[in-house]
Amino acid sequence: MKDFFVLAIETSCDETSASIIKNGDTEIGTVVLTQMDIHKQYGGVVPEIASRHHIENITLVLEEVLEKANMTIEEIDAIGVTYGPGLIGSLLIGLQTAKTLALIYNKPLIPVHHIAGHIYANRLVNELKFPLISLVISGGHTDIIYMEKDYKFKKIGGTLDDAVGEAYDKVARVMGLDYPGGPIIDRLSKGGVPSYKLPLPMDDDSYDFSFSGLKSAVINLIHNEKQRGNVINKENLSRSFQEVVINILTKKTMRAVKEYNVKQLILSGGVAANTGIREKFEALCIKNGIELIVPPIKYCTDNAAMIGSAAFYAYKEGITGDSFLNAKSTDKLGG
Ligand code: KG4
Ligand code: ZN
Repeated sequence: MKDFFVLAIETSCDETSASIIKNGDTEIGTVVLTQMDIHKQYGGVVPEIASRHHIENITLVLEEVLEKANMTIEEIDAIGVTYGPGLIGSLLIGLQTAKTLALIYNKPLIPVHHIAGHIYANRLVNELKFPLISLVISGGHTDIIYMEKDYKFKKIGGTLDDAVGEAYDKVARVMGLDYPGGPIIDRLSKGGVPSYKLPLPMDDDSYDFSFSGLKSAVINLIHNEKQRGNVINKENLSRSFQEVVINILTKKTMRAVKEYNVKQLILSGGVAANTGIREKFEALCIKNGIELIVPPIKYCTDNAAMIGSAAFYAYKEGITGDSFLNAKSTDKLGG
């Protein structure tokens, strides 16, 4: 079979990224331009600022990825792009660029759901074995997805309020830590013990999650300690919070793995970079004889390589877009 090259674009949040992926599983080259340092001073991503920077960066990123891959756009077979979910202004920059390239160079346009991208980040490092369960944990999502075969997604549970990464970032903020707080809490928790009592949120029979109550519990705890004149031990609070997150994520996900009798568990999304979460899943999967796949950190946070992989499999399913394709700030995966 002739090799199939996808040029993929991802601009759903604050990373401007382009990548060239061969046959859905081989990364030829990727460029990620992050705006993290710009948004840090505001304590979170400011949508208007993000889209303005995407406009400035998108052509640079595209030129650089072609140069890196030593390819011309004529050698590309299709253009893949994240159409949603995400920040609408940011998505539109990537989408408009992709539509323009597809039109000018007469290439198929492949719309990719951002979460499908996060899941397919795993395909860049491993074969996927079906059926599988994917736990997608990021700043915008906390989903348990069942996949019976390639590019067939069934969401069996998800957060009813805050995403887990969002909870990490908000808790970090009240603790006076920098944005994004996830990696900082992860690092601090290594030096602490779980001495603060926090509730296990939504500990029920469903596969859904709720993190806003846990976040409020941390905020209340900090206020109460301050009123008593006590100094918060940041390492211990980080550890206490992270333990609760790990417990609820692993409890529900491992139950799904058993109920659906899957061959693999795959983790994805920015929070899958968390060392505590990885370690606990590794131990549980060994114990239960389940193959666990966790992508390297560079594929966990937003990047276009994962979009390029997903686009290949979407195209195999006949999924294409045209010039009427629109960006969507929210959209259900697989429906
Ligand atoms: O997937 P991602 O780059 O963007 C979204 O699609 O949301 O995820 C970003 C999120 C942020 O909330 C960040 O705090 C979190 O991933 N994150 C972490 C870690 N590294 C990144 N959370 C916990 N522990 C980490 N090591
Ligand atoms: Zn993401």
